[in-house]
Amino acid sequence: MALKGKTAVVTGAALGIGKAITEMLLQNGAKVTLLDINETAGKTLKEALNKQHGEERSLFFECNVESEEQIKAAFQSTVDTFRGIDIVCNNAGILNEKQWEKTVSVNLMGLIRVSYVALEYMNKLNGGKGGTVINVASVAGLTPVPTCPVYTATKHAVVGFTRAMAAASSASGYGLRFNAVCPSLVKTDLVASLMDNLGQFSHLAYATQCSSVQRAMDPSEVAECVFELVTGEAKNGEILMKEASRKKYITFPTLI
Ligand SMILES: NC(=O)c1ccc[n+]([C@@H]2O[C@H](COP(=O)([O-])OP(=O)(O)OC[C@H]3O[C@@H](n4cnc5c(N)ncnc54)[C@H](O)[C@@H]3O)[C@@H](O)[C@H]2O)c1
Repeated sequence: MALKGKTAVVTGAALGIGKAITEMLLQNGAKVTLLDINETAGKTLKEALNKQHGEERSLFFECNVESEEQIKAAFQSTVDTFRGIDIVCNNAGILNEKQWEKTVSVNLMGLIRVSYVALEYMNKLNGGKGGTVINVASVAGLTPVPTCPVYTATKHAVVGFTRAMAAASSASGYGLRFNAVCPSLVKTDLVASLMDNLGQFSHLAYATQCSSVQRAMDPSEVAECVFELVTGEAKNGEILMKEASRKKYITFPTLI
């Protein structure tokens, strides 16, 4: 998919990986709606993007993925302004094993909520244009991380949801591709606050933590993978794993 003239919606766009994805989409000609609960960081980023790319290329809305009302309002404003949506990047996520219900609510329920709103707006059978949904899972979606069982559960669920939605969409003719990217550690605020947010299994962290954090990737490396999933040859339902030293597509068997 060439990005010139396309419109993307990115959740958790104000900081970290979401910010890098937003910048890459804009650099490649897309228009982007940024959604985030952090109003200050979102407005600051929007001002910087205005200077670089022009005011008309992006929108920012304070939007919590836990609120269907806020998501729908943001999607509607995007369609009203940019005349359609082609790409949705479900990036908003937290790692907090102490507030584990909140982690499930944002990482899983929020991602499902945004995906279902995306389906309403993009489904070709409803008059939408079709397009692509990219879910930011994690390497914790493919392998267990003993310090973070709830984060692991949400990210495994994101991989499963992505695969099922890809199969459902192709079987139903919705014209939507669903893919996921599974990064390993990336240098962002989420990682900087990791040790404070581990719960009862934090005693398992120290041995692996120091060396892994040192090897963490730059957020723009993950943004490149998202770009590849949007524009590249990945089939519907493929999951892209990204570690510091290697990148590979994992193709799951088709269910139907
Ligand atoms: N950093 C890593 O090592 C890493 C590795 C694999 C996967 N991930 C995933 O990448 C995604 C982004 O993580 P990051 O490292 O950039 O985190 P980050 O904390 O740097 O940024 C997350 C952004 O999401 C926003 N956000 C949080 N809750 C929200 C909500 N309810 N609604 C809307 N926005 C919300 C935050 O305000 C922030 O701007 C997450 O899904 C995370 O699980 C991160």
